[in-house]
Amino acid sequence: MAFDISRRFMLAGGFGASATLAAGCSAASTATGQQAAFPPQTTPSGNALLGPNPDIAQLSRNENPYGPSESALKMIEYAGKKGAYYAGEANLVLAQLIAERHGVSPEQIAITTGSGEALSAIALIYGPKGPIVAPRLFWDTTALYAANLGMATIDRVPLTPDMKTDLAAIEAKVTESTGLVQLCNPNNPTGLVAPADEMKATVKRLAAKTTVLVDEAYMELADDPDGNTCIDLVKEGHDVIIARTFSKIYGMAGIRVGYTISSPEIAAKIRSTAMSWISGVGLAAAIGCYNDTAFLDYSKAKIVEARDMVATTCDALGMEFLPSQTNFMYFKSGLPANDLHEKLAARNIEIRGQYMDYADWSRVSMGKIEDVERFCKALPTVV
Ligand SMILES: Cc1ncc(COP(=O)(O)O)c(C=O)c1O
Repeated sequence: MAFDISRRFMLAGGFGASATLAAGCSAASTATGQQAAFPPQTTPSGNALLGPNPDIAQLSRNENPYGPSESALKMIEYAGKKGAYYAGEANLVLAQLIAERHGVSPEQIAITTGSGEALSAIALIYGPKGPIVAPRLFWDTTALYAANLGMATIDRVPLTPDMKTDLAAIEAKVTESTGLVQLCNPNNPTGLVAPADEMKATVKRLAAKTTVLVDEAYMELADDPDGNTCIDLVKEGHDVIIARTFSKIYGMAGIRVGYTISSPEIAAKIRSTAMSWISGVGLAAAIGCYNDTAFLDYSKAKIVEARDMVATTCDALGMEFLPSQTNFMYFKSGLPANDLHEKLAARNIEIRGQYMDYADWSRVSMGKIEDVERFCKALPTVV
């Protein structure tokens, strides 16, 4: 029986299974030749089925290992038992919760499979109208998705010399024929939050010319989320879309739930452009933890603690770093980013490699405290 099911799992093609089979490995054995347990705990290459291998300090993907909360896990169990059924109206319950917190109507909320899906949909909707104007360095995966399909071009505006999003330069570029302005606040990978007054005033002026998307994936981790968010601009009727996610402060990156807040018309367009039907498990988990303030406080405290550890380490080593308002830190180790990445990887510590041509800058995520500790201890030994 175990063999049968493992074999079906492998034949389903996940994780390069067919290549492993073609190489003549038994479907029920791992790369190390051991019998695979059922349910399978490892991939064909011997890695953990999900999450990092136990010996790896996973600090490269801006995940939050303190999630999911107990409140989410309870709902995941419940949803699993209802897995035979399409999710039905659960999305309305989540939309209602989100709308209540932000003082908007549920019609203004579009819930998607991670915020990435909403961001991709938005790039597809607005890309054909004209260029997506964005800072040179931002989380560009979804704009690139549309660009790679020939549905968008990205007009990147250089950062200021101190690595900030240059709002004035962006404003100077934007015209009525701009397809979309995409801002990430706090920005990834810099971790910087834009000055609130300047950001809101600029977004308001920009939105008079074209639609402005503000990706606030990390906003709950900022010191003053309420003071920095642009949600109020949506409420005032400006042409602004806010994207948020359950992948960061809620620690549910693998569960895939995100949402946008916009006008009801834009929300309807995002819903109809999104390609997947959100899973009942994801919806239930998000409903379970959305207002779990005890967990949110705990999660944020752990991230801030880790951030302080990295800042202290960089200070002690005389390394420049940007004052992060997120669960990652952008810093200059003195080594090219890819070299530092390799040296740490040799010690089972995974951080991000180089972004674009920013070879001097490295990004480390705030994972488990003990993993961040490993990073802080290893850093002086490799630079
Ligand atoms: C700024 C930003 N926005 C959006 C996302 C997408 O997150 P998800 O699709 O998991 O919600 C990420 C992922 O790291 C990100 O860094």
